[in-house]
Amino acid sequence: MVAAHAISPVAPVTKSPQGSDVDFLPLLGTDYVEFYVGNARQAAYFYRVAMGMSLVAYSGPETGQHDQASYVLQQGKVRFVFSTPLRNSSPMAWHIHRHGDGVHAIALQVDDARKSWFETTRRGAKSVMEPTTCSDENGVVVLASIAAYGDTVHTFVERKNYSGAFLPSYKAVNIDPLARPTGLQHIDHMVANVGWHEMDRWVDFYASVMGFNLYQHFDEKDISTEYSALMSKVMANHNGYVKFPINEPAEGRKKSQVEEYLDFYNGPGVQHIALATCDILNTVKTMRNQGIEFLHVPHTYYTDLQSRVGKIDEPISELEDLGILVDRDDEGYMLQIFTRPVEDRPTLFFEIIQRKGSRSFGKGNFKALFEAIEREQMARGNL
Ligand code: FE2
Repeated sequence: MVAAHAISPVAPVTKSPQGSDVDFLPLLGTDYVEFYVGNARQAAYFYRVAMGMSLVAYSGPETGQHDQASYVLQQGKVRFVFSTPLRNSSPMAWHIHRHGDGVHAIALQVDDARKSWFETTRRGAKSVMEPTTCSDENGVVVLASIAAYGDTVHTFVERKNYSGAFLPSYKAVNIDPLARPTGLQHIDHMVANVGWHEMDRWVDFYASVMGFNLYQHFDEKDISTEYSALMSKVMANHNGYVKFPINEPAEGRKKSQVEEYLDFYNGPGVQHIALATCDILNTVKTMRNQGIEFLHVPHTYYTDLQSRVGKIDEPISELEDLGILVDRDDEGYMLQIFTRPVEDRPTLFFEIIQRKGSRSFGKGNFKALFEAIEREQMARGNL
């Protein structure tokens, strides 16, 4: 969901279902996000030239991988992998047929992939890949995967004994002449859209299977417009490095953005990825110049902005030119903006966020954002 989640960098440690304060799934952060796409070479071009990421590794027929090609892109700590099948018999081809281009794997870096797989599967996670060791001249990596919502998986990546560019079978790319950096630093949060009345089921999954804590929740009273509504709960792991807001649709007069997503993605999946920058004005200017399209925010949003958020460092006229939103809580303020869906299906989009003290998302922007999305839904004939 758009902006409807409070984030704190340090999640409170609560007792696990076993009654222990020990984090049974310590996460070092997001290792990578893997997208399954119809044409990885062209998708990678977009993310390099428009989003500003650098090609750092490649795997394909030339490296001995004969059934797929994968491009690993990086900027700051954000690492995306774009993979495409080379033959129709691949399960990857089925994923693309069903969902269009989208996120398949949210990979989490861990110290011990075997233990992560064991602790989560014994709490009820469905195994997708048992712990598997791969190695090359740069060392050893252990990978294991469990199922999450829809066809999305979580892959545990243990790379403490590996010094290569990405994973064994990938060849390093040292210089990317195409990349045009935009100042993106790390993933702030990744949002799931799940089906009607499924939010609590997935909240329970993250709590009991992965040891996450509930951060904050929003109901249809917080996130609704004249036409539609959604509900959202934010789950965060123990150290707060990984945050997953989970949205479900709520009853409204018309079809909500979550329903539109579910229709076009054919089920639950990743709705948006929020990427942090420390200079949102420059990041957004650069991205816009490089072809990224953002949601339009009406002039009226800015007329009373100063009185709502108080003194801020950025000139309001510049924020308005770029369409950047601002919200304040008692700890500070934050700036955010949302891209239009980055594919033809109205599914995945990105958020660019800069935090200046604020650890929450506030509610001030929900209505304006929701209405901006609805204008686009209307234009697509889906509202
Ligand atoms: Fe967000």
